[in-house]
Amino acid sequence: MTEVLNISNFTELLPKSSTRPFIAFSDSNQKFVIKALLNSTSRKRIVSEYLIGALAEKIGLCRPKAYLATLTEATIKKLSNASIKVITPDCVALEFVEGLTEVPSLFYTDDMKKNASLISFSELNHAHISKFFCQPENQTMFYGNALFEVWLLFADNHSDTLFKRTDGTPLFLDGSHAFGYEDNFENLSHSFDKSNSFPVSGNLEGILRNKNFFKEWFIKIDSIEESILISVLDSIPERLLFSAEKEALLTFLTIERKKFIKIWTYRIQNNLL
Ligand SMILES: Nc1ncnc2c1ncn2[C@@H]1O[C@H](COP(=O)(O)OP(=O)(O)O)[C@@H](O)[C@H]1O
Ligand SMILES: [Mg+2]
Repeated sequence: MTEVLNISNFTELLPKSSTRPFIAFSDSNQKFVIKALLNSTSRKRIVSEYLIGALAEKIGLCRPKAYLATLTEATIKKLSNASIKVITPDCVALEFVEGLTEVPSLFYTDDMKKNASLISFSELNHAHISKFFCQPENQTMFYGNALFEVWLLFADNHSDTLFKRTDGTPLFLDGSHAFGYEDNFENLSHSFDKSNSFPVSGNLEGILRNKNFFKEWFIKIDSIEESILISVLDSIPERLLFSAEKEALLTFLTIERKKFIKIWTYRIQNNLL
């Protein structure tokens, strides 16, 4: 059985957010970032956040660990007093990572554009990101995250999702905009995927230079067993994930995964990016 946390002690809303996540604590007093159900469109976003956390964990990608959770009645009341009206107690809890530094996107000034023929944006951005992550072994995570985001149909190219942990390693946040643009999980496919570049989360232009680094991530993605995918999907209550969606997601994560690996291995091997 998957552990479902009990969440109480709401303390504060997080700044700079669109889904209004907040900080609260579990029974064992562990600190979490909570994403709760605020309206009908946030259902897809919180389920995505949970799935992204669970799948990232299976392949060893640096994203916060995600749990299914329930808000206590007192917490729901306290939230309501702070003008946060949740629809159900169901929510997703992300381990709170202390001491994160946001890695800002490189701001492309007019002066830089004028000089673009001398030094390309990719070169400048490579230097910018390398300043934050000087250890080359950290960079493998960027390849993993880029593939992960393409595999799981991250719908937006966000520039505020890359962070640096106190130990110098990267952390990617915000899985709430994965699995395409629709408000449900029913039409997920790589068939219409005509993109010829990585729609990676902000900041990574010019970073993915060595195509050999993708190989280990293809293998990791391919190696998540179907039984594990089924148990992750089964752990989500039907209130959050409808049965037709569960079926569609399983097809997407198994049959469509094969298609994704084939298409993107070909693109990368043939320098089509
Ligand atoms: N697990 C976490 N640990 C620490 N801080 C976090 C965590 N998740 C989010 N944050 C902080 O909250 C902000 C908003 O989170 P995000 O997931 O982007 O929410 P939204 O879905 O509303 O965009 C982040 O920019 C970051 O500063
Ligand atoms: Mg965000």
